Amino acid sequence: MTSKSSFLTFLVCAALIPVLFEATDAQGLRSGFYKKTCPKAETIVRQTVASFVAKDATVAAPLLRLHFHDCFVRGCDGSVLLNSTKGHLAEKDAMPNLSLDGFDVIDTAKAAVEAACPGVVSCADIVALAARDGVALNNGPSWQVETGRRDGRVSSASEAVANLPSSFGEIAELKAIFARKGLSAEDLAVLSGSHTIGNAHCNAFSKRLYNFTGKGDRDPSLAPAYARTLRSQCPRGDETSIVEMDPGSAVSFDTSYYTRVSNGKGLFRSDAALLHDKVTRDLVYQYTGSASKFFRDFGVAMGKMGNIGVLTGARGEIRRHCALVNA
Ligand code: HEM
Ligand SMILES: *[C@@H]1O[C@H](CO)[C@@H](O)[C@H](O)[C@H]1NC(C)=O
Ligand SMILES: *[C@@H]1O[C@H](CO)[C@@H](O)[C@H](O)[C@H]1NC(C)=O
Ligand SMILES: *[C@@H]1O[C@H](CO)[C@@H](O)[C@H](O)[C@H]1NC(C)=O
Repeated sequence: MTSKSSFLTFLVCAALIPVLFEATDAQGLRSGFYKKTCPKAETIVRQTVASFVAKDATVAAPLLRLHFHDCFVRGCDGSVLLNSTKGHLAEKDAMPNLSLDGFDVIDTAKAAVEAACPGVVSCADIVALAARDGVALNNGPSWQVETGRRDGRVSSASEAVANLPSSFGEIAELKAIFARKGLSAEDLAVLSGSHTIGNAHCNAFSKRLYNFTGKGDRDPSLAPAYARTLRSQCPRGDETSIVEMDPGSAVSFDTSYYTRVSNGKGLFRSDAALLHDKVTRDLVYQYTGSASKFFRDFGVAMGKMGNIGVLTGARGEIRRHCALVNA
């Protein structure tokens, strides 16, 4: 090599360093990560979610919940999608899974994205995008999703148990669990508004109806008429029936969740608990009166949640199938 060409090589390499650095070691996510490598990725995910929602509008809620469970356990790394393996129970088979759903939507979107650009788009990003698209298709807000997450290789049922909040959680415990993920009391108040869509199984709240403190009593904070309705939907001992969390408005992303919580009609103890702290209570009242504030804050908080513990750069992998780590 002549000294001139080696100098040129040096220059080219020097110029590439920042590029390589960005490509392999980027800190954090960014909007439009797939603009060059898979320009249709976001459109494909949106069209897939839209085709499922057109058939059944209730699929949006499980997609939103999947992203939440993904992010709270090991960061948003697609670990919630992994199947259990021989002798190892994955997150989706943990107790708090309480019937996670939406996996078929993610798998369909992944297959379509793989057909367009094989090996490029992570399952974790597809979950984040699908959550956003589902909310928008239930008449909720939309927001920009930063992408560039990579997929993890570990999923553990015991970590799901340890990191996910309980529906019987009181405010101090809920705030502490969110704080451990870098989320504030404000984030807790606005993200709980997710319960404006979707369904819940009776066992997530029936203790409030029949045996709140172990003395055969009812949770006194639950509005009596609502408690009666719930008792008829969930007879004593019924663990499997489901109810709408925001009755009559379960596929409409709106502020009625906050109106209900204000009136003693939050379904879970964790919903009612938002009234037991000044910061979260004030926000419940504000969101009741302002869809625009709720929608704006929700998008911002989803962005924060979507950044929890992400794998970027050279960490993790781009899974070929969302339920399996690459061989
Ligand atoms: C604050 C603590 C939270 C607790 C204790 C909690 C608990 C629960 C429980 C027990 C269910 C019912 C599951 C079932 O019985 O099938 C549920 C449903 C749901 N949660 Fe949460 N959640 C919390 C926060 C969140 C957050 C932050 C999000 C999203 C960002 C979310 C989104 C959802 C959605 C959309 C559903 C409905 C799922 C469906 O229709 O299948 N939740 N949640
Ligand atoms: C993951 O597990 C589900 C449920 O057991 C099963 O239907 C599915 O085929 C599995 N996926 C793969 C890729 O093995
Ligand atoms: C949820 O976890 C329970 C208990 O670990 C398990 O029996 C059940 O199959 C899981 N449900 C789903 C949908 O993965
Ligand atoms: C109510 O809760 C108490 C304490 O957890 C328990 O001992 C009792 O068996 C429960 N009663 C019913 C009817 O489930």
